[in-house]
Amino acid sequence: MARDQKSRNGKTDVTQLLKFEHEEVEALFHEFEDLDEPGERQQLASHICDMLEIHAQLEEELVYPVAREMLDDEDLVLEAEVEHRVAKDLVTRIRSMAADDPTYGAYVKVLGEYVTHHVDEEERELLPRLKSSDADTAALGQELLQRKRELQRQRGIESVADEDLVEQARGAAAATDVTEAQRRGPSSHR
Ligand SMILES: [Fe+2]
Ligand SMILES: [Fe+2]
Repeated sequence: MARDQKSRNGKTDVTQLLKFEHEEVEALFHEFEDLDEPGERQQLASHICDMLEIHAQLEEELVYPVAREMLDDEDLVLEAEVEHRVAKDLVTRIRSMAADDPTYGAYVKVLGEYVTHHVDEEERELLPRLKSSDADTAALGQELLQRKRELQRQRGIESVADEDLVEQARGAAAATDVTEAQRRGPSSHR
C-alpha cells in the first residue's frame, strides 16, 4: 500500500526535509565561528543545541524505526543511534558550561565536526536508501512536520509555517543536488 502512495506528494519528502535541517544547523555552526562575545556565543550555541535535540528526537521517533524496518540493516541504524547519543553528551556538556570557559568554543567546534560526520553518513547512505525503499517518505515528511511543531511548542520555540519549511527544503534539495554532482566529479569514486 505504501508503495502505491509513495511520492504522490513529493513536497514533504522526509529525506529532503531532513537535508534542509542539516544545512540549516551546519550554517549556524559556521556563524558561531565568527562570534567573539560570550553572551552571543552562548545564545547561538543554545539555539544549535535545541535544533539538534529536536532533530535527533524526530529521527529517533519517526525515521529510524522506518529505516530499521525497510532497510534490513540493523548495524546502519544502530550506528546512527550511537552517534546521536555521543552528540547529545556533547550537547549536555556545552549546556552546562560557562560561555567564557576557554574550552567553550572548542566544544562547540568538536560538536559541529561530529554533526558534519553524522550528517554525511545519513545523506550518503541512510536517506538515499530510505528514499528508494517502499517507505512512504512523503507521508513521513508530513508526520515529521507535525511532530516538529509539537516539540518546538514544548520548548517555547516559534515554529516556521509548513509552507516555508517545504520551500526551504526544496531550496536545500536543489543545493544538495549540485553538491552531490560536484562530489561525484570525474576523479571521485564516491
Ligand atoms: Fe541523525
Ligand atoms: Fe539527521
